Amino acid sequence: MIIHIVGNRPQFIKLAPLYRELKERGYDQVIIHTGQHYDRNMSDIFFDELNIPKPYINIGVGSGTHAHITANAILGVENACLKLGVNHEKDIVVLYGDTDSTLAAAIAIRKLGIRLVHVEGGARTATLNNPEEANRIVADHLSDIIFAPDNASLQCAQKEGIGHKTYKVGDIMYDTYMWFAANSNGANDVLKIYDINCEDMFVLMTWHRQENTDSKERMRQVLNFIKRIEDTVVCPLHPRTVKCLKQFGLWDMANEMDNFIILPPVGYSEMVGLLKYSKLVLTDSGGLSKESSYAGSKCLFMNNENIWPDLVDINWIKYVDPESEDSIDNALCFAKNARKVDIKDRPSFYGDGRTAKKIADILTNQGFI
Ligand code: UD1
Ligand code: UDP
Repeated sequence: MIIHIVGNRPQFIKLAPLYRELKERGYDQVIIHTGQHYDRNMSDIFFDELNIPKPYINIGVGSGTHAHITANAILGVENACLKLGVNHEKDIVVLYGDTDSTLAAAIAIRKLGIRLVHVEGGARTATLNNPEEANRIVADHLSDIIFAPDNASLQCAQKEGIGHKTYKVGDIMYDTYMWFAANSNGANDVLKIYDINCEDMFVLMTWHRQENTDSKERMRQVLNFIKRIEDTVVCPLHPRTVKCLKQFGLWDMANEMDNFIILPPVGYSEMVGLLKYSKLVLTDSGGLSKESSYAGSKCLFMNNENIWPDLVDINWIKYVDPESEDSIDNALCFAKNARKVDIKDRPSFYGDGRTAKKIADILTNQGFI
């Protein structure tokens, strides 16, 4: 049996192609959902549109501090696996990314002695100030095999002495992106509902990282930066950010800004559609900053990690620090000059959209399945 453990929005997007590939090869699979994300638009919508079966169990950890989420997910994952009657010789567990759910599952599974596979390992090479980096390090080191999305992630694993169990396979999110880019026109409805004119391409924004939402001052600086962008900024907003804006009394300011259109979080097909009409991406999301390159839209990155150094090196990703006047000036200049890049000229650091197939082949060849 192959057990996938997920809990957060980007993990559902990463799970879908691998689940599909392994299903086509006839493997028994089970999904355990930690319940870290639970709103329909943060969870179920992805299961529906990506055609992933309902989880065997949803542990329901919900929201809370890092310790709350991690501790409850460790217990829940252990219980779920014991209930499933796991076979230590035959079964494997697949984890994705670097969230608290990934960390919890890595700890629980390692101690249960089940073989552990980490998809999107190695990524992030910066600072332990980000909760994701601690999660990534633990998950990588506890895993039996790691699938890295790019050269930089492979090199990170090599530096940490775990290169021998790491395979560069490309970005599994690209598999999902390619599928939707070819098959959906998902943004049309959302654009109509919100009366967004896609003729004038807009800046597509997402904003949710702890370091950009935890203080009132930081949030105000982000809003002031948005105000100074000349284009319309369309932003499907994470519930964390909505909560913090309200808590800090900034919700009205955000809604009254002429160039800022706040949407609820959207499904992936809508996201791919929004990317299509974006001239630029403004985000603090690790996933979206990389996806911007699939859509030919350059990216202003409000995040202090050098997660995708190849994109930084070619000036595709540019950092912006909303606290620094110099950085804002440079970012505004970058935004003004941003042009959609033709699909054939997009950078291609993250594989060919067949990552799930490569992972399944390696798992087979290495005797994991
Ligand atoms: C988590 C991950 C982050 C990842 C992101 C993907 C950790 C440490 N962080 O951040 O790496 O980039 O998921 O989106 O695991 N909330 C809701 N409804 C939901 C989910 C969250 O209202 O369905 C609100 C709650 O107020 C919650 C807050 O958002 O307290 C933060 O959620 P949480 O899961 O702790 O962290 P994310 O910011 O989502
Ligand atoms: N995404 C989505 N709907 C949204 C916002 C983001 O489908 O409203 C997708 C986005 O395109 C990317 C993934 O979610 O594929 C990124 O997830 P998130 O930003 O939550 O997490 P991170 O990548 O920072 O871990």
